[in-house]
Formats: sequence, structure tokens, C-alpha cells
Amino acid sequence: MDTLTLRRPDDWHLHLRDDDMLRLVAPQSAHFARAIVMPNLVPPVVTGAEAAAYRDRIQAAGFARPLMTLYLTEATDPADVVAAHAAGVITAVKLYPAGATTNSASGVRDFDKVRPVLTAMEEAGIPLCIHGEVTDRDIDIFDREATFIDRTLTPLRRAHPALKITLEHVTTAEAVDFVQGNDNTGATITVQHLMANRNDMLAGGMRPHFYCLPILKRDTHQARLRQVATNGDTRFFLGTDSAPHPTHAKEATCCAAGCFTAPHALSCLAHVFEEEGALDRLEGFVSLHGPAHYGLAPNEDRITLTRGAALSLPDRIEGHGQTVTLFDPGHPLHWHVT
Ligand code: NCD
Ligand code: ZN
Repeated sequence: MDTLTLRRPDDWHLHLRDDDMLRLVAPQSAHFARAIVMPNLVPPVVTGAEAAAYRDRIQAAGFARPLMTLYLTEATDPADVVAAHAAGVITAVKLYPAGATTNSASGVRDFDKVRPVLTAMEEAGIPLCIHGEVTDRDIDIFDREATFIDRTLTPLRRAHPALKITLEHVTTAEAVDFVQGNDNTGATITVQHLMANRNDMLAGGMRPHFYCLPILKRDTHQARLRQVATNGDTRFFLGTDSAPHPTHAKEATCCAAGCFTAPHALSCLAHVFEEEGALDRLEGFVSLHGPAHYGLAPNEDRITLTRGAALSLPDRIEGHGQTVTLFDPGHPLHWHVT
């Protein structure tokens, strides 16, 4: 198969940042029709009014159809969340355990404090997107997702059975099992977690552009993710988690977490699906399962992927005084998007 025509994909987990970085990266997601935009700005996007203002800045920067989220804090007002959703300003709410990842200091420490919001969301049918990692310093970083599922997600799922949950950027077999074992639960998978494992990041030298959170796991987990992404399981869909940081913040003594994959995400995914003999299932993963989970129609227009000469990708993209380095899987890519 050398040509593949798909319904236009969406990105169900994207970081667009703000100001000059927003202006640089917003056009880089042009292959995607819609994107769930993460609210972890500094300060975070907490209220409906802030989400509407951020939506306008994103559209002015060149991305037409952002699906906005609110950053859940212990002070979030349930009425504001319900009103923002009813007005069509937001699509979902994002839960970050405090301290789990980039700009998550205002996240949730005491889950009892957000019960009223979760109950209101459950009643109003508002999806909750979850960064699923505990933050305890005594839990090994490679175990933080599995521990979160045991300690936090399992009781939360039980307490709010009708709440629609998206477990974001799943990285482990435990997370896959959780999604497959619970109703009203879907999951995004990133490009880098399908293409790489912790050896790619750490063996033979430490590669900062592979460092993201949740951290890459061992190859057996990667294999499980590749299996559920490519076998047609509708509970799993693309969320690139493309997370641009300035190159100087990645190539640093304390490297920022995040892989920048938006520009070539679809070429990477076609490579993965081809390796798995599953090119016929790519459309489900990138264009169909996500809209179905969120109760939206898939896009009507199409994109075409063509297999050809190795892509010549820039190492970095630059503009507006910003420089961001592209995620490099370490081998050539042959699928071109037109
Ligand atoms: C994201 C970021 O940089 O905002 N980083 C990451 O490693 N994935 C935050 C996140 O999604 O955890
Ligand atoms: Zn993210």
C-alpha cells in the first residue's frame, strides 16, 4: 500500500502554549482539524472566561478549531464549569495531580475538595481528562502511573461511575488493563510512546528530546500500547501530547518534560502502523475513535498519505524569537501527508 486516504485526523491532547510560542507552534498542527488543548499555561486556564480568551488567542495564531479544557483546581467553581460547557466554550476538564508534570503546581492535592465539581460534571456529561501519575517522592518514577491507577483512579472511577474519563497519554500495560476493564473510559496514546521505550532515551547516552511525562517505559509496555493502538480497539485514540519547550530548556542540566511531535506526528504513526501491518486501522486511531469517545462527528474532509522518499525534516523550527527541536525517532520516515 503506497497511498492512504483518511478522514482528517484530530489531536485529542495538544499543548499550544501562549504568546510567541503559540504563534510558532499553532500552524504546525495544520494536518489536524480539531485538538483538545491543554490548559497548563502559567497561570493555568481555570475559568470559562479564561478559556474563551485563550481560544481567541489560539484562533488568531492560526489554529481554527481548538477544543478547550479547564484546569481543575481545588477552588474550581462547579457552576462555572457547567456554564462554560453549556455555552460551548469548553469540551472537557483536565485533572493534574499537583506537581505531576510541567506547570501542574495548581493541580489537585486533596481529591475530596473536587468531589462537587466531579459530581456536577458527571450529571452534566462533561468529560474529565486525567494526567494519571502519583507525585509522591517515594514512588519510583517508572511506577507512578500504575500506582495512580491503584490509589486514585480506581476509587475515583467507582465514586463517579457515569463520569466520562479520558486517561491521558497511557504508558503501561496496567493503564491499558484499566481502560479495557471499565466503562465510560477511553485513553489517548502519544506518538513517542508508540515509537520508543526507555532504552531509546537512556541506552548509549541520554537523549533529552525523548524525555516526557509519563516517562517512557520498558519495551514490554511499548509493545502493549502498539497492540491496542493498532488492533482497532475503539477505546484508544491519538493524543500527540506534542509539548514544545524551547530547545535550551530541553538541552539543559534539568531538562523540561515534553516531546514536540505535531509537525510529523502522522508520518510517525503511519510508520508504526505499517510496521504492525495495520495501515488499514490507522484511520480508526487518528480520525474515528476520538470523536466517538467525545460524542462528536468525525471530520468530513480527507487527507492523503503517500509512501515515498525519506522525508527531509528540519531538526528544529524557529520563529517569533523561539526555537523548538523536533522529536527524532532515530530512523527515516517515508510517509508524506498531502
Ligand atoms: C507536558 C508539558 O510540557 O506541558 N509535558 C509532558 O512531558 N507530557 C505536560 C504533560 O502533558 O504532562
Ligand atoms: Zn500533555
